[in-house]
Amino acid sequence: MKKMDAQQWRIENSAGKKRVIVTKELPGRRWIEILARADCRVEISTSTDMLTTAQIKAAIGNRCDGAIGQLTESWGKELFGALNAAGANAYSNYAVGFNNVDLDAAAEYGIQVGNTPGVLTETTAEMAVALTFAAARRTGEAERYLRAGRFTGWLPSLFLGKQLKGKTVGLIGAGRIGSTYGRMMAEGVKTNLLYYSLHTNQELENYIKDYSTFLVTHGQDPLTCRRVKNIETLLQASDCVSIHTVLDDSTHHLINAQRLALMKPDALLINTSRGPVIDEAALVDHCRTHPDFRAGLDVFEQEPKMASGLDQLDNVVIVPHIASATGWTRQGMAILAAANVAGLLLGYPLWGKTDITPFLEGDNIPKAIPGLVTRSKAK
Ligand code: DGY
Repeated sequence: MKKMDAQQWRIENSAGKKRVIVTKELPGRRWIEILARADCRVEISTSTDMLTTAQIKAAIGNRCDGAIGQLTESWGKELFGALNAAGANAYSNYAVGFNNVDLDAAAEYGIQVGNTPGVLTETTAEMAVALTFAAARRTGEAERYLRAGRFTGWLPSLFLGKQLKGKTVGLIGAGRIGSTYGRMMAEGVKTNLLYYSLHTNQELENYIKDYSTFLVTHGQDPLTCRRVKNIETLLQASDCVSIHTVLDDSTHHLINAQRLALMKPDALLINTSRGPVIDEAALVDHCRTHPDFRAGLDVFEQEPKMASGLDQLDNVVIVPHIASATGWTRQGMAILAAANVAGLLLGYPLWGKTDITPFLEGDNIPKAIPGLVTRSKAK
């Protein structure tokens, strides 16, 4: 195992009385100011290697008040136990997703857990749209062909793709990101929507209804948006399926060989949520045997690894978990993570509003915790 090197940690606000560790460099300065205003000395790992649990535990040491960690780290009993022993009660994931965090273990050790909702919504939905078009119009495959010097001139049937206007997009999960992607596809491309979700998204349904009225007044066809009771119906009826669900026991391998077999042979499958929602080996088999089927993936089952053969398939578009990678979003995530830890240390209440922009700009940073996912202690 690599030894933790003191050189790999840098310090901000060295005179701060509380100690907060941050396991990766985060973009921007505002997040550091938020922690400094809360009287925190901030110790930041400058390593781009993924830190191990042992390395993070060593960094927590004997005295620590809070931590900001990454989705690539496993925050469970060992780390929450170490935080608790060091006197901390605050942790924030630098992510909106928190499948890497054992909320029960955090509750057991009295650690409150924050996340970063509200700054990834459009950014992630935009990447889902990008992957949808890259998959539908075969842009990766076509670029590789061009770069290989194989383009000898325009041909009537070169890289025929799939047109999406008027088609049906199926959303698995219609929370903030899923419904934003759905609206982008409906408004921009004029697709109908189906969605599979625990709850009815009345706001999305009303939005598409009102938008349809607008379309009709402009002489265009109306669109539909309908919740389906079971995932099978959605998979069978959709031309493009986009996954926007959380990862937990109920969604692990939600898309498996049997369910892939239900999809149209030329359907698109897009995933910007978490890799293990798809049985990746089954997807490789399916893409091999269904050359007209296309997948667009931002996330992988065992990141950073990919299932054997996935990267060899021309009908799969892959990007390395970058759906939230814009400067604005990544700085926003840093600000929210810092505000979570600072707010917990200062005993602030929960923000409780969807709009988090007051945290991102201006001098009056709300005295509140923007994102909290803490589970109450098991009885
Ligand atoms: C998150 O925040 O959960 C995203 O996956 C990061 O891109």
